[in-house]
Amino acid sequence: MSEGSKVNFYGRDFTITPDVLIPRPETEMIIDAVLNLVGKPYLPGVKPAKARLPKNCKILDVGTGSGCIAVTIKKEILEAEVSASDISEKALMVAQTNAREFSADVNFIKSDLLNNINSDFDIIVANLPYVDANWDWVDKKALSHEPAIALYAEDGGLALIKQLISQAAKRKTKYLILEADPCQHERIIDYSFSHNYSLYEVRGFTLVFILDNPPT
Ligand SMILES: C[S@@+](CC[C@H](N)C(=O)[O-])C[C@H]1O[C@@H](n2cnc3c(N)ncnc32)[C@H](O)[C@@H]1O
Repeated sequence: MSEGSKVNFYGRDFTITPDVLIPRPETEMIIDAVLNLVGKPYLPGVKPAKARLPKNCKILDVGTGSGCIAVTIKKEILEAEVSASDISEKALMVAQTNAREFSADVNFIKSDLLNNINSDFDIIVANLPYVDANWDWVDKKALSHEPAIALYAEDGGLALIKQLISQAAKRKTKYLILEADPCQHERIIDYSFSHNYSLYEVRGFTLVFILDNPPT
């Protein structure tokens, strides 16, 4: 991907550089899941569920990369208070460029997972790196143009996802929305259960969890 290429995500053309993951179509399901939680229609002819959260809820996108998830959420739910974080300074610069491009008021934070995040959120969404370097069905050559920090994780690809689940559980975050390969879903669901999260729904690669007995 050359410097400053454009890639479409949820109907908007995002600026992408070699410092960020190229947005994938399967990640658009995260947006549908968030819209559904606030009772907004996300597909023509499909009635959204009854709203579980107000539209002015607080949402954090962890591992924002190009900012495609955070910027899209802010554009689709204007009332939402949206923050986005990444461990990569270079990725955050690309995300800020995209937020400016779309006049999306998103608060950006440099952080290793939730380590530097001080506020609490109603929803945490994350498309963290989840590729296991040993998966032989992955075309490593095709992925070599994207940063390794955006793709690979230890522990069968689940190391960062598990850390985020346990951090979110400690903060009693009500909804946790995670993308992972479907072959990893069972292990993520088991791990989430052991951290007081129940599965609310599955949308393609996207898992939506709700905290058991959230604080009122
Ligand atoms: C799979 S990419 C997703 C990018 C974007 N959210 C998307 O869906 O296209 C994962 C992102 O997580 C970031 N990341 C990796 N390790 C991280 C960590 N420990 N804490 C926060 N972000 C991290 C990477 O820099 C990368 O931007």
